[in-house]
Amino acid sequence: MNNLNASTPPLDMVIFGGVGDLSVRKLLPALYMAHRHNNLPAQTRIHALGRQPWRRDEFLAFIQDKVVGFIDEAAMQAPLWQSFLDRLHYTTIDATRSEDFAHLGQALQPGADRVYYLATAPSLFTQIGKHLHGAGLIDARSRVVLEKPLGHDLASARQINDEVGRYFEEAQIFRIDHYLGKETVQNLMVLRFGNSIFEPLWRSPHIKSIQITVAESVGVGSRAGFYDGTGAMRDMIQNHLLQLLCIVAMEPPVSLDADAVRDEKLKVLRSLRPMSVADVASNTVRGQYSAGASGGESAKGYAQEDHVPPGSSTETFVALKAHINNWRWANVPIFLRTGKRLAERRSEIVIEFADLPFTIFSDTPRQSVNRLMIRLQPEEHVQLQMMAKEPGSGMRLRPVNLNLDLESAFTERRAEAYERLLIDVIKGRLTHFMRRDELEAAWAWCDPILQGWQQLGDKPKAYTAGSWGPAASSALMAREGSAWVEEA
Ligand code: BG6
Repeated sequence: MNNLNASTPPLDMVIFGGVGDLSVRKLLPALYMAHRHNNLPAQTRIHALGRQPWRRDEFLAFIQDKVVGFIDEAAMQAPLWQSFLDRLHYTTIDATRSEDFAHLGQALQPGADRVYYLATAPSLFTQIGKHLHGAGLIDARSRVVLEKPLGHDLASARQINDEVGRYFEEAQIFRIDHYLGKETVQNLMVLRFGNSIFEPLWRSPHIKSIQITVAESVGVGSRAGFYDGTGAMRDMIQNHLLQLLCIVAMEPPVSLDADAVRDEKLKVLRSLRPMSVADVASNTVRGQYSAGASGGESAKGYAQEDHVPPGSSTETFVALKAHINNWRWANVPIFLRTGKRLAERRSEIVIEFADLPFTIFSDTPRQSVNRLMIRLQPEEHVQLQMMAKEPGSGMRLRPVNLNLDLESAFTERRAEAYERLLIDVIKGRLTHFMRRDELEAAWAWCDPILQGWQQLGDKPKAYTAGSWGPAASSALMAREGSAWVEEA
C-alpha cells in the first residue's frame, strides 16, 4: 500500500454511529491500523459522533475500554496508540437536530476532505444528508460511505439511493460490502485475469458447476434484534455471495477502472435467471438452526437465542441453485450456500470441471475429477484437484491436490477488509464499492425469492447447530449429480 505524502489535503473522517458496534469492532481498529502504517493523511481528524453527552475524557475512557480488545495485540504500541487517540474527537449529535450539525461544522478543519461514514440505520440517512447539506458541510470533494443493510427490498433500496442521491453525486457514494475488501476476494480477480491458463476453460461446457459457500460457525449472538427482521437471504446472499458470484462469473473488464469493473459485475447480476414461485419451491432451501454443538460446546437453537420472537420463521441458512443466462454460463448450475452455526467457518468457491468424455481406466468414475477450490477464509489457499495413479501395480487412480498456499507464499502483512476499504475511500477509489445499479440489480433478483417464500408459506427446515445445514441442501445438489465439498 502506498503511504500518503505530505501534500495530501487534511482529512476529516466523520463517523455517524461513531461509538456503535461497527465502529468499535471494525472501523476504529481499522483506522488505528491505517494510522500505524502511515496510510492516513498527516492532518487527519477522526470524529466519532454519538448521542451520549460525553466529555472528551469520558469518550477516551470508552475507547480505551471497548476498542483496544479488537486490535491485534502485536500491533499495539503505546506511542502510536497515543498519537491515534490525539486524532480522535467526539461530538454529541442528534441526527434530527439541525443545530447539532452547525456544532459539528465548527469541529471540522477548514479546507479538509470530508468523509462521512454512515454507520447508522438507513432510516437516518435522509436526516443526516439534509442537515449536512443545510449546514453547508457537503462540497464536491466530500464522500459518503453507506453501510449495509441498504434496504430490505428493491423499493426500499431505491428510496435510500434517491435520498442519498439528493445530496451526493454517484461518484461520491461508497456503498460498502466488506467482502470486496478481503485480500482473497481481490486475489480472485488476479487468479482469473492475471493468469492465462484458466480463462479458456472458464465457461460452459468445460465447467460443470460452481459452488460458493460462506459458512459461519457462530450463531446470531446478540444481534437477533437486527437479524430476525433480516435473515440470511438479505444479510448474506443479496450482497456478499452475489458479489463473489459476480467476480467469478464476470467477463474480463477492459481495465481496473471502477466503472469498467462494475459494468461487468452489473451484467452478471442482470443475467441471473429470475425465479418463478415454482423455481423458488424447487431450487431454494431455507433453514434455521436448532440446538446442537459448536466448537465442542453445546449451542442453543436460534429460537432460544436472546431477543428472538417466539415462533420466528427467519432463515439462518439458505442454499439455492441459480443460473446465469448468457453464452458463457448457459446450463451451468450455480449453487450458493450460507448459514450460521454450521460445522465450521469456511468461505470457499469450488469450480467443478466437466466430466471426462470417456474413460479408459476401469473402476474409475468419469465424473468431475477436476476441481479448482478457492478457499477465502479462514485460511487462503487454492487447490487444483487432479487424478493421479496410485503407486503399485495396476492402474488405480486417486485424486491429489496441487496446492497453492498463499499464506506461506507471501510474508507481507494482510490488511483487514475495513482497513483496505477505508484507505480506498480516502484515496477516492471506487472499484471495490457497489454502484447504485448493481445494488438494485441484486435486489431485483432477490425480491421474487423472498416473495416466493412468502407465497409458499415456506417454513425454514431445522438443522442441528454444528452440521452443514438441512438435508434438503444436499438433495438440491444431488439432483444435478453434484455434492457440496465439505471435506477439510
Ligand atoms: C456481515 C453479516 O455482513 O457479514 C453478518 O451482517 C456476518 O451476519 C458477517 O456474520 C460475516 O463476515 P465475515 O467477514 O466474518 O465473513
